[in-house]
Amino acid sequence: MQPAPVICGIGTSLPSRVVTNDDLAAELDTSDEWISTRTGIRERRIADPGTATGDLARAAGEGALKSAGDASVDMVVLATTTPDHRCPATAPDVAQRLGLTGVPAWDLSAVCSGFLYGLACASSFIRAGTAERVLLIGADTYSTILDPNDRATRAIFGDGAGAVVLRAGSPAEDGAVSSVNLGSDGTLRDAILVEGGGSRSPFPPGEVPGEGRYFTMRGKTVFRHAVDRMSEASRTAAESAGWDPSDIDCLVPHQANARIIQAVADRLGLPVERCASNIERLGNTAAASIPLALADAAGSGRLRTGDRVLLTAFGGGATWGAAALTWPDVAPMAG
Ligand code: UT7
Repeated sequence: MQPAPVICGIGTSLPSRVVTNDDLAAELDTSDEWISTRTGIRERRIADPGTATGDLARAAGEGALKSAGDASVDMVVLATTTPDHRCPATAPDVAQRLGLTGVPAWDLSAVCSGFLYGLACASSFIRAGTAERVLLIGADTYSTILDPNDRATRAIFGDGAGAVVLRAGSPAEDGAVSSVNLGSDGTLRDAILVEGGGSRSPFPPGEVPGEGRYFTMRGKTVFRHAVDRMSEASRTAAESAGWDPSDIDCLVPHQANARIIQAVADRLGLPVERCASNIERLGNTAAASIPLALADAAGSGRLRTGDRVLLTAFGGGATWGAAALTWPDVAPMAG
């Protein structure tokens, strides 16, 4: 029988610095009232200068390996759009810092859908028998690419990392991932964009990079497409798992905006109480958002062993996806 990917460990890492809406209002033309009513966010964690994505990724990976009770894996996948360097990938360095030198390790770039793209990738290696155990990390430090003067994006994003260990198991086990579906639409490539620094618009040698170094987002466009695509992808993943949307015990959506989460829940006919959310405390942590929300839901008892869980995300590219799984008996560990 073909092995199934089974989650057997989960870890997190957050910067200690809390930035509240009032802190942002002290330096930008915004308010706690605007941010909390439009997004549901009250505070976010921001990495101190000198802390890189790889540092958070390493710590979350360490937590996941401890939570799994076995520090051996034969593959490391890091989903991020804020790698430590443009070249090389951050994953090999994270792997060696975790004592995993020698295993294949690479970065995967799918913006806020990165964790789901990584889940599909890790699952495929396990199903094919190419890997027995995979460490999948979602980590981002968006604070390093945000325009300090852009109140819209600074209000939303925070930094963090979350990780899971997947092992080869059986489809009937708690923790088994039963379906993942993904999609993309490049016509939306400029809806979420860091214009400069790539091969299309390299930074001129010797010059200080200008505005093109910052993250930009067409918020309303992204909002509309996020609701459509996350709802459709969730229906598809539920159907592939043989579930009706009403069978979902816990929807764990990408934490982009509380109003997006509410709209997706409405379209699926789910009461919002069946959604996991930590957006109030962490904001949007991009590739880290789903594993951080899973860890919070598991840690608080919101997620119980055997629960039917539906993950869904939308991000730059545009990319999107959804996955169906059952929840295993694991305790999240902070790295
Ligand atoms: O993670 C990847 C996926 N990302 C998302 O899913 C994000 C999706 N988009 C959103 O969550 C929302 O579009 C935002 C929260 C980003 C913005 O909310 P909105 O209700 O769509 O506002 P808007 O962009 O239409 O802006 C309305 C007004 C504008 O002012 P004017 O032009 O009407 O005078 C903005 O400049 O609100 C202003 N505004 C703010 N005002 C106070 C934008 N950000 C802020 C702010 N504080 N932080």
